[in-house]
Amino acid sequence: MASTKEKVLDFFIKNETQWISGDTLAKKFNVSRETIWKAINALKKQGHQIESKRSYGYYYVGTKKLSAQLINHYLNSHLVNDIEVLDEVNSTQIYAKNIINQNLNLRQNKIIFAEEQTNGYGRRGRVFFSPASTGLYFSLILKNDFKNLDKLGLLMTGISTAIVRALNYFYPEKDFKLKWVNDIYLNNKKIAGILTEAITELESNTSRALIIGAGINLSTIDFPAEIKEKVESIDQHFKIDRNLLAAKIIDEIDKILNEKSKGNFLAEYREKLLLMNRRVLLNVGNQKFSGEVLNVDEKGQLVMKLDNDKIKHFNSGEVTKVNF
Ligand code: BTN
Repeated sequence: MASTKEKVLDFFIKNETQWISGDTLAKKFNVSRETIWKAINALKKQGHQIESKRSYGYYYVGTKKLSAQLINHYLNSHLVNDIEVLDEVNSTQIYAKNIINQNLNLRQNKIIFAEEQTNGYGRRGRVFFSPASTGLYFSLILKNDFKNLDKLGLLMTGISTAIVRALNYFYPEKDFKLKWVNDIYLNNKKIAGILTEAITELESNTSRALIIGAGINLSTIDFPAEIKEKVESIDQHFKIDRNLLAAKIIDEIDKILNEKSKGNFLAEYREKLLLMNRRVLLNVGNQKFSGEVLNVDEKGQLVMKLDNDKIKHFNSGEVTKVNF
């Protein structure tokens, strides 16, 4: 049952640019004017801007904060029916893993956003800098859809293509690039990283759930000294409603998951690949491979011509040097 606060926000979202009196709202939801007044104050505390004027009532201006209700309102797809927004969390990945551990039979996909992460992490346990309000940090839990972990390569390339499509929707002029497998670059600096973790059933090599974590630097400027040279944010004056962006990303992921088997997006992925025909050093566990990148194959694997002239397809690894 939705609370009065949720009902009032729902009304505001669906009836933009409209003044409404406390009395009308009270009658509409069958509560007292005081209850409406309290709901309005609670919404303001959550970061919603609401103007009030004697004899006019209330007017909803918007919010700069992430809101599950707003994201849900903007969504066109049905990929997730459970959206949670946290003000602060250690890591949305850890939060998602706890949810999975407590729900052995996940019934639906879920997405968790956080305004700020105090312990955000990336691949190889690296810190992912996640300061308040200047980025988009989320973990998407996809319930046991992936019978075969071999398909992960396609999933990862698909998710990064989806995020680039969403970013390009708001920034068509920006030339986002991809570094295999799923880092997003702009002007040769990393603006987003994606991490896919599988909660696996070892016996059957199937996954019970996948957690796709993504961190996008939207307007962050104060990166720590040790990463300052390598990372960037999209736009220091980022003005786009992050709720709209969040919804667009979910919609684009949904679209790509539906086209995934055909791999339609791979051409787009290859076109944005930073590494094509470049000489790279690839770390796979403790092993290092150097050679030239030839392509990304139909499974989303990186195809390299190694220095010994052998052609090899990699389904995991991290490119640590380019054109060295
Ligand atoms: C990488 O660059 O290696 C991947 C970075 C992934 C960061 C995101 S932010 C949301 C989610 N929570 C985390 O702790 N990590 C991911």
